[in-house]
This record gives sequence, C-alpha cells and structure tokens, in this order.
Amino acid sequence: MIALYPGSFDPITLGHLDVIERASRLFSKVIVAVLKNPNKTPLFSPEQRQAQISLSTAHLKNVEVDTFSGLTVAYARQRGAKVIVRGLRVLSDFDVELQMAHTNKLLAPELETLFLATASEHSFVSSSLVKEVAKLGGPIDHLVPAPVIRDLRERFPSA
Ligand code: PNS
Repeated sequence: MIALYPGSFDPITLGHLDVIERASRLFSKVIVAVLKNPNKTPLFSPEQRQAQISLSTAHLKNVEVDTFSGLTVAYARQRGAKVIVRGLRVLSDFDVELQMAHTNKLLAPELETLFLATASEHSFVSSSLVKEVAKLGGPIDHLVPAPVIRDLRERFPSA
C-alpha cells in the first residue's frame, strides 16, 4: 500500500524525518510531497525543500519525494496512494489535523488519514521554530537533518 505524507516542510525537521522513517516501515512506499503554496512565502523554494528531503531520506529505499499543487486528495488519487500520513506532536495539533482529515474524507471517502505520534524528543520542534533559532544565530544541529543545517547556515551565516 502506498502512503502520502504531504506538508510544507519549510524546512524538514527531525520530527518530520521520524514520521517518514516510521511510515516507511508500515507501507510498501511512502511519497513525501511538498506543497507548492502560492499563498505562502517560504524560506526555501519547493525544489530546495524537495532536495533537502531527498538527501535526508536517502537511506530509506521506499521513500520518494515530489512536489505538488492543488488538493492533497487529488494528488493522492493521481499517485495511487490510499493513506494520508500526518504527524501529531502535541494536543494543539489535533484541532487543525482533525479538521483536515474530515475535509479530506468528504472530498475523497476512499482515502484514510493515519496519524503518527511524533517521537517525544522531537515533539516541540517545528519548522517555524527552527527558522527563528537559525535567524537569531542559535544552534540548530539537534533540530534538523544535516542537509538542512548546511542550507540554513548558508542562509543565516551566524547559525
Ligand atoms: O506542513 P503543513 O503546512 O502543516 O501541511 C499542510 C498541508 C499541505 C497538508 C495542507 O495545507 C494541505 O493539504 N494543503 C493542500 C490543499 C488541500 O488539499 N486543502 C484541503 C484539505 S485541508
């Protein structure tokens, strides 16, 4: 069974990577898909984010990384994915995630959303927090995979 893990991944964090690693053990294939969102101004382009995720998941042979635009369910159908994977870090994630799961269920009843609880040591990590720490020159080594550390240091030389 193919699973889709959609998200912004601006940038991918160790929390995201934990979810990808665990999903890759549950499904025959996991497609990690970066949303090209015209309403957001990301730090990294979709192609940069795709490259960061590809490098960070090179050890996982059943993981593919792509970009997409439009509805997640449309992309899932196009790729033959039957499950949408999302990570839950803290209780406050639940509200919006449940809303998304219900919306996706209405749009595509044949798809299931599967929530994986992000490992507790990464439960506080978010892409926004990582960007703020990097911008302000704080250490980010324990928050993001190596390819992202390199890109953030290039973008914020004091990080
Ligand atoms: O990493 P994020 O920003 O929490 O991911 C959110 C994402 C990309 C999964 C969500 O915004 C999404 O699915 N966007 C695509 C548009 C869509 O399908 N909207 C309806 C379902 S909420």
